[in-house]
Parts: sequence; C-alpha cells; structure tokens
Amino acid sequence: MTSPTRISLDPRQPGPEVPRRLFGTFVEHMGRCVYDGIHSPGHASADAAGFRSDVLALVRELGATVVRYPGGNFVSGYRWEDGVGPREDRPVRLDAAWHSTETNQVGLHEFADWADAAGLEVMEAVNLGTRGVAEAADLLEYANHPSGTALSDRRRANGRDEPFGIRLWCLGNEMDGPWQIGHKTADEYGRLAAETARMMRFIDPTVELVAAGSSNHEMPTFGEWERTVLRHTAGLVDHISVHAYYEEDPTDPASFLASGAALDRYIGEVVDIIDEVDARTPDGAPVGISVDEWNVWNQTRWNEVDKPRVFTGDWPIAPRLIEDDYTVTDAVVVGSLLITLLRRADRVSMANLAQLVNVIAPIRTEPDGGPAWRQTTFHPFRLTAEAAIGRVIPVDVRGERISTARHGEVDAVDAIATVDGDVAHVFLAHRSLDAATEIELGLGAVASAEAVVITIPEGGDRTTTNSADAEPVAPADLPVEVADGILRFTLPPLAWARVRVQLAS
Ligand code: AHR
Repeated sequence: MTSPTRISLDPRQPGPEVPRRLFGTFVEHMGRCVYDGIHSPGHASADAAGFRSDVLALVRELGATVVRYPGGNFVSGYRWEDGVGPREDRPVRLDAAWHSTETNQVGLHEFADWADAAGLEVMEAVNLGTRGVAEAADLLEYANHPSGTALSDRRRANGRDEPFGIRLWCLGNEMDGPWQIGHKTADEYGRLAAETARMMRFIDPTVELVAAGSSNHEMPTFGEWERTVLRHTAGLVDHISVHAYYEEDPTDPASFLASGAALDRYIGEVVDIIDEVDARTPDGAPVGISVDEWNVWNQTRWNEVDKPRVFTGDWPIAPRLIEDDYTVTDAVVVGSLLITLLRRADRVSMANLAQLVNVIAPIRTEPDGGPAWRQTTFHPFRLTAEAAIGRVIPVDVRGERISTARHGEVDAVDAIATVDGDVAHVFLAHRSLDAATEIELGLGAVASAEAVVITIPEGGDRTTTNSADAEPVAPADLPVEVADGILRFTLPPLAWARVRVQLAS
C-alpha cells in the first residue's frame, strides 16, 4: 500500500457543461466494422435490413451519443452515390484506402436508419481526397434539402421522404497524411476546405463543420498545418479535428499509462494555436476541438502483420483488420483518456472513440451465428458516458507521483468530477502497477456513495483480455466508507473507478 491519496473538490464550483458529444464513436467502411460487424445479413440475429440486433443491443448499452461515418481514410476515395438506390444496382468498387472490395450494400440510408435505432447522431464526412466542392454540396443537398430538386427528389424516390437533417459534417479526413488518398499541403487543403464550407453553408446554414487538423501530434507539419488551415477557414468552420492513438511499448508501461498527459498537452497546443490565430466560428466563438479519432491502437501490429497481409493479397471483402484484443491496461488508459477529455471540456467540443465494432473497437463480433461481446475498453467508456452529465469540476489530487520516460512526472491517480444537481460523479484512474492506494475523497456534505472499479480480475494479470468465450474484465463493486463527510476506499494497482456521490443539502 502506498501513502494515501487525498482528493478534494467543491461541487458548488462553476465549470463547463459536459458536451454530451464527447461520447461519440466512429463507424468506417474498413475491415469488419460495417460488413460482418454491425451488418451481417446471414446472421441469426439480423433484422430485415441485415443489421445484427445483438450488436445493436451492445451499441445501445455502450451509450455513445454520436457516430462519425463513413471514414476515415475510406472516405477519401468514396463516391456517396454508390451507396444509394436499389441495393442490387449498386456498383462493387475497389477501396484503395484499405485494399478491400466495397460492395456498397450499406450506404447513407441504411446507415442513418441504423444510427437512429441506436440513438446516435450521424456525423457525416465528405470526400475531399478524390472529390471536391460540388460532390460535397450534392451530398448535403441530397441529405438535407426537403424536396423539389433533382437531388432531394432522388432521396425521396429512394425511400426517404423527410430530410436526414444531418448537422455535423467533417471536411475530409487526415489530409495532411501522405497515406491519404488525395493528400494535400496545408494551403491546398485549407483553400478547398474553405470553399467547400462556403458552399455547404449556402445550401444549409444550419450545418456544423469540422476542418481536418493533423493526423497525429508527431506529424512533421503539426502546428503549421493547424495555423494555415484555420487562417483559410476563419469564420467558416466550427471545429478543428485532433486524432490521437496511443500504443504500449511493452518495455515502458508507465509511459503508456500516462497517455492522458500526452493527450492533455496535445489539446493544449491546439488551443494555443486557435487562440494565436484567433480562429472563430461563424457565431464568433473560438473554434472548438473535435477529437474525432482517439483510442489505444497497436500500430506496430498493423504495420508488421495486417498491412503486409492485406495489401499484398487479393482485394477481400471485409478482411479482419486491426482487431486489437484489449487488455486491462488498455481499459485503464482508455478510462484515463476520457478523464483528460472531460478535463478539457472547456475547449473540446466533441470526441469519437475510433472505432465502434471489430476495428480497434469496444465491441467485437464473430460471424456465422457467432456472438457479439464487450472488450475491456467497453466498460470505462460506458460508465463515463452514462454518468458524465452536468458540469465538469476540477479536483485537487495530493498523492504519489510516477516518473515516466516519455511524459515526465504524472500523478499516480488521475481524477475529474462532474456534478448534476445533487449528484456528483468522480472518475479516477490509478496508473501505478505496484501497489494499492487508500483514497480519501472530500467533497462537502455527503448523504451516500457507491463505486465500481475495473481492474485485474482474480487469477488474471495486466494483460488479461475478454474474448468471445468469456468476459472476465468487467466492473466490480468497490466498497466505500463514508465518515465525517470523507469517502474512503482502496484503489487496487492498475484500476479505473467511478464513484457516485449523493450530496447532502
Ligand atoms: O481508425 C483507423 C484509421 O486511422 C482511419 O481510417 C484514419 O483516419 C486513421 O488514420
């Protein structure tokens, strides 16, 4: 047991509203996310449209709020028209982004209906790789214009009388990356994004637009890319994207567990750039940050195993791509990244866990009558999305510090709180691998408290995963004592916890 960690907060303190769009997710036409993931017509649980009801039930349980679609790298070569109209007439195409064959059996109509059933707001991406202003405008008119034009009437003829009313739109994807189809310089992309935004706003002034920021913090163009793009798109976009994936170096788990500190710094640098160029939305507010791809991703395995396998073979339909098996350690990192996102809720307007099913996902499936199941990372996401409502309240943490090779010194326990009326939730990540810590949590007058924890299950270790056969990593009750307004509980090493507190008036 290390020395106690003392945490305090004042639940009456003002704080930013929790943006509920912080709990977005992402479905890309990639690997088995769509086909063999959410959609699997031959499966016993499939509905009339071919969507798996067991997967839909887990998506609902996860409690996400938004879904980004249809890519990702995929969108930079996608023709949206291929995915509308009678399914039997839809063309089969090469998907050059993932070296796969795209059947187009799922497109805008099917996906929007599915998202509706799942309770998710669609965040649609337009192709600014191989396409441009006209095609983005066409898609918007098709989706959102009520009727009386060729495109809106085509939507109605395709079975959707009412407009889709899609509000959130991504202006392309990762256009700074040399791997991106139609990759561009910051000036080329900035101009194209600005003109696309202008045209989209002419068609539907209610849209909210996201300009593509850097693909990751390590891009050599990071910083200059944001500055240039924001200057071009000033007054035309509402958000700029941040993409952030973290990977464990098995020789340095401490740095991996401190990934939240790296995300914190990354967001802080983008905030500084937004302020430096005074980038504002059409309403005059500072441009928000859309962390529209974030997760743990074993990119070494992708580069060494998946990529050579898929990119040198045939053009398979829905190959298994980046189906990472998540460990307890990964779950604690995902939980702590959520703590960072909440902490930066003053400037982070939304975020999307990438992705939703099979592809680096909290939900996995097996085909041919096989099950759908929860990965370890499902739990911190679900528990946070369910409870983080109201205002974000910072907490003061006094306890052990951990020294990391990549991110400097960090608190062994990271925490944040949200308060809604007389209910507070405190979210905590314990990044120490060695010893438990006693937590003393003070937040004023308390009526009652209860807590759940995700940690190493009995008989397991920090690499324990869930599988199609068993889900040993799941939330467990964490005993909490309340005395003299102080909550006391023990956080095991490597743990993520949520404490619910009923405040006394
Ligand atoms: O989420 C997987 C891929 O990661 C996305 O297609 C791309 O945008 C990012 O590089």
